[in-house]
Amino acid sequence: MQVILGNITQLKVDAIVNAANTSLLGGGGVDGAIHKAAGPELVDECRSLRGCKTGDAKLTKGYRLPARFIIHTVGPVWQGGDCGEPELLAQCYRKCMEIAIEQKFESIAFPCISTGIYKYPKDLAGEIAVKICYEQMQKNGAPQNITFCCFDWDNHEVYERIVAVLRLKNDSQDENVFSSD
Ligand code: APR
Repeated sequence: MQVILGNITQLKVDAIVNAANTSLLGGGGVDGAIHKAAGPELVDECRSLRGCKTGDAKLTKGYRLPARFIIHTVGPVWQGGDCGEPELLAQCYRKCMEIAIEQKFESIAFPCISTGIYKYPKDLAGEIAVKICYEQMQKNGAPQNITFCCFDWDNHEVYERIVAVLRLKNDSQDENVFSSD
């Protein structure tokens, strides 16, 4: 597991995750950046998928991206936390990891889903992201390389802290489970 500060569209991994909306037809934020970098063929494939529910995830090719595939997931809009947001966000990460495992991907990179336009508090979202990915990785032994690609220093700090705590807890078992910049 590693935490980086960067642009997810530039990562050469098996799959990057897109924080999309239910239409899957593009938008702003990381979604807009991914569609722009992948090229117009992406929206054609997305159209054939007929949308995606909040908490679900769907796979497309990566087209002009360095990443081979894109896993599109739809995070919840933050409404105060009592409208099932934590469960839905956890489901996003779980579904993405399930697809990665099913496809035998060795590397996957996540943006900080829901923490931009959808306004999910960064610390709460980060806890869920790391917990679910770690659980899935432990359970399935894959994908071996998980990158949390933060686009802002606030998220980077949040993820560094969460991963550092987890690393401390795991130090006695396996010192190489986590790494960070
Ligand atoms: N690489 C990595 N992370 C990025 C990039 C990028 N190129 N661009 C933005 N981000 C980060 C944001 O800083 C934020 O931390 O991705 C995180 C998620 O933010 P959004 O893209 O706004 O996604 P989200 O909050 O899930 O809202 C989804 O936004 O773009 C629309 O169509 C999308 O309607 C949907 C909504």
